[in-house]
Amino acid sequence: MTIDKKCLINWVGGKRLLRKTIAPLIPEDIVSYIEPFGGGGWVLFYKDQWADLEVYNDLDSRLVNLFRIVKYHPNAFIEEYSLLLGSREMFFQFLNATPVTDIQKAVQFYYLITRSFGGRGDTFGTVKKTSGGASKSQKNVPLKITAIHERLDKVLIENRDFEKLITQYDHEGAFFYCDPPYSKGCGYEVTSTKDFEHERLRNVLGKIKGRFLLSYDDSPKIRELYKGFEMIEVERLNGINNREGTKRNKMFKELLIANYPIKELHERRAD
Ligand SMILES: C[S@@+](CC[C@H](N)C(=O)[O-])C[C@H]1O[C@@H](n2cnc3c(N)ncnc32)[C@H](O)[C@@H]1O
Repeated sequence: MTIDKKCLINWVGGKRLLRKTIAPLIPEDIVSYIEPFGGGGWVLFYKDQWADLEVYNDLDSRLVNLFRIVKYHPNAFIEEYSLLLGSREMFFQFLNATPVTDIQKAVQFYYLITRSFGGRGDTFGTVKKTSGGASKSQKNVPLKITAIHERLDKVLIENRDFEKLITQYDHEGAFFYCDPPYSKGCGYEVTSTKDFEHERLRNVLGKIKGRFLLSYDDSPKIRELYKGFEMIEVERLNGINNREGTKRNKMFKELLIANYPIKELHERRAD
């Protein structure tokens, strides 16, 4: 069995299916690598190291607590997690509970995310024909936690709004991979799609000294907002129910936008 050690959780809007397209567009001469909208960190974890200084940030403190505990207390996490069962009662107990310690908080959040449908953390994910979903094996968890613990060794973990974070870490050698909530679709615990301030992000990115690469859903609003920047269209499979080779495949268009030349890098990769 192969284990994807380079990620911890599936996260709504996570870039699992685009990380191989995004990675070659990240310049090699960057001094620092910053992800203001970290989520499950699929691009960050794709490579062993992007730069000497790496920053993971998200406004959602549940994610930040999870990664901090994995970074600083991996063994306590593994021990606590090993006591859990694939149980509906336990799932709903955690969903409605207020954990006492940060370790419990991290473990229960991880449990809810990994055992729910689509990683949303709110529905007990049962399946009819395989051993996935809520009844999945826990054997690989220690391996994953240890791998992410090692990867996070030099990664700074922040819990700030994107504007403060970008302003704080900006300099000529800085690189920001930005993956904000889409302009359409479901939102997050910290911001609904309707409330996310896309214009504010555009204004912040328009002023930075460093470079940015931005991923978004392909919409007229985003195209208009980033008019003048280099943009490429990419496609990925849409949704968790679409598996390669099934008739249900539907493609979803995304935009990659940057303040440095990415078209050439993208074409070179396609050769
Ligand atoms: C599309 S997801 C990022 C997914 C991530 N790239 C991955 O691969 O899993 C967007 C993230 O932005 C975070 N977010 C929303 N509003 C934010 C804000 N104002 N500042 C920082 N993070 C924010 C959400 O909590 C969510 O995790």
